[in-house]
Amino acid sequence: MILITGATGNIGSALLEQYRAKGAPSGGVRALTRGADKVAELRAGGVEAAIGDFDHLTGAQALSWAEVAQALSAATGKEVRYQDVPPEAFGATLRGHGVPEFLVGALLSLYAVYRAGYAATVTDDVRCVTGSAPRTLAQFAADHAAAFRGA
Ligand SMILES: NC(=O)c1ccc[n+]([C@@H]2O[C@H](COP(=O)([O-])OP(=O)(O)OC[C@H]3O[C@@H](n4cnc5c(N)ncnc54)[C@H](OP(=O)(O)O)[C@@H]3O)[C@@H](O)[C@H]2O)c1
Repeated sequence: MILITGATGNIGSALLEQYRAKGAPSGGVRALTRGADKVAELRAGGVEAAIGDFDHLTGAQALSWAEVAQALSAATGKEVRYQDVPPEAFGATLRGHGVPEFLVGALLSLYAVYRAGYAATVTDDVRCVTGSAPRTLAQFAADHAAAFRGA
């Protein structure tokens, strides 16, 4: 199944038209739009369509870094630890490696956002749009355990 995001836009609608003219690949094609009116229009034209908004596309769970380390440890059989480095020490290390000040500021701001929990929202968009729930990190790590082990 190929999901065409932006299927109602300039590029997506041209792509959809090409599939219509030449035939869809095996597994079919699904068009994505944010609007109920547009999804109805697409379906009326014989297109398989789904409603979804990718502004808040997320994975299956909100995880702390410690939980990420735990999942990687479980999948690889090797201990992976999360070390909570205070922002001042992180900034000092970056500066020590010659990272320019604007980038140090940008990275510290980014991690301040994570610390404040702004990345903790979980939406159901992947399942709504694809019909399948997103993989958990534990599943992803298990599927690619050899790569994570460096084998
Ligand atoms: N056209 C060009 O020549 C060109 C050149 C270079 C790069 N690009 C880039 O290619 C992309 C598509 O270009 P385009 O010209 O086809 O754009 P467009 O005609 O403005 O269409 C935008 C599409 O994105 C969808 N969309 C907007 N926000 C979304 C969201 N939050 N979640 C899911 N879908 C969303 C819209 O779907 P709904 O309104 O139906 O929800 C619409 O189908 C853009 O990022 C553009 O910057 C375009």
